[in-house]
Formats: sequence, C-alpha cells, structure tokens
Amino acid sequence: MDWHNSIAANVQWTGLISNLEKKQRVTEKLAEQVGNGDVIGVGSGSTSFLAVQAISEKIKQQGIEITAIPTSKEVSQTCAALGIPVTSLMNKRPDWAFDGADEVDPDYNLIKGRGGAMFAEKLVMASADKSYILVDESKFVSRLGEKFPVPVEVDPRAVNLVEIRLYELGAANIKLRSAAGKDGPVITEAGNFILDVRFQTIQESLEKELSAIPGVIETGLFIHYPVEVISL
Ligand code: 5RP
Repeated sequence: MDWHNSIAANVQWTGLISNLEKKQRVTEKLAEQVGNGDVIGVGSGSTSFLAVQAISEKIKQQGIEITAIPTSKEVSQTCAALGIPVTSLMNKRPDWAFDGADEVDPDYNLIKGRGGAMFAEKLVMASADKSYILVDESKFVSRLGEKFPVPVEVDPRAVNLVEIRLYELGAANIKLRSAAGKDGPVITEAGNFILDVRFQTIQESLEKELSAIPGVIETGLFIHYPVEVISL
C-alpha cells in the first residue's frame, strides 16, 4: 500500500472507531508529553492510530522532531504517511512508549492483543522505562478476563502441544482466531497463529507460566509493567 492509499484507508477507518471522541481527547492529553528529539514506541490499534495523528499535529505546530518505533506494519505506514521517521528496536531504545489496551484491572495489569500485535507491543513496552496506556472507561474491569480472552501467539507447529498445556493450566475454552470474512486462521506479522483463551481465574503467575510453554511466542497478558494510564 502506498502512502496516499494508506491515508485514505485510515481516514475511512476513523469512521469505524468506537468511542471516537473520547479516544481523541485521551490522545490529545498524550500529545502534551511529546518533547523534541524523543524516540517513542508506538502501539497498534485504533487508539494508537489516533494518538499518532495527535502527535503529528503537535510536532508540525511546534516544529519539533521525533522518531517512532512502530509495533506493526499498519502503524508504521501511518507514521510514514504523516512524515514521522521510523526506526526499530534493533537501532534504538524508546525513551517512552504508548499503546491502547483491551482490559485494564485496578492494579493497571492489562489484556492486549485484539489487533494481534502483542508480540511487538510487549517488546516495545519492555524496552521502555515508561508506557502510557490510552483508554476510555469501557476498558476498565474489576478482574482480567472479565470481557476478553487472553490472546496467545503460537508457532503453528506447536498448536496441539500448546492446547494440551493450556488446559493443564486451567483454560476453560480455547479458540483459534480466524480472519474475519476469510477462510483460515489469522496469521500474525511473525507468521504465527493466535489462540484466544478463556481462563476461570487469571493469577499473577499466569503470564510467566504461559511464556514457559514450548511454542508460545507471546501472550496478551501484561502483568506489572511500568505503565501510566491516561483515561477519560
Ligand atoms: C493491538 C492491541 C490494542 O492496543 C488493543 O486491542 C486496543 O485497541 P483499540 O485501541 O482499537 O481499542 O493490543 O494488539
């Protein structure tokens, strides 16, 4: 997709974003954090897309320069289309990062990964000293797993093994994520499948237990990350 088509696709997408106005107000608060020369980890999803737009406005108005470390091809194209230079974790460490979330519990633990980008999102969040999580109130839950399953990215060869181990860890229901309107499973940017897993309870230890299963690439559980939540 060239830059102009990318912008056109994103403009169409803006009309489909839930809670658009609230998300835009949250991203305006985020834009206040941007300083000249910052290297910023950029999350994926609709809120992050809006945040890139808000940041782009700010840097144009104030004539400041930043570098982005994107967490998906989609957000990378958005940055490029808006004239924001991009680099990767192989070249730079983010000064700070921002991202959306699907669930936020009272201790600011997160479920992420509805967009399937949690592998790169966790790499970026783990590399940054601080990450801003941008959410509207619909994302707050009293316990993780209340609304969404935990996404688990899995090497395709390991799916059967991982399913057995997930049931041993207390999984109640496991679904291979399928691509909307298409045949077959969702394939992540790293060429993997995603299992959406419901657990009766999610203990703090679960993130590490899932990561220890051979074939699990990453999960959408973010427990005790250095985050500051910006919400409305
Ligand atoms: C993508 C993510 C997103 O941050 C999460 O799904 C929230 O998305 P949105 O901002 O569209 O509500 O984790 O992998």
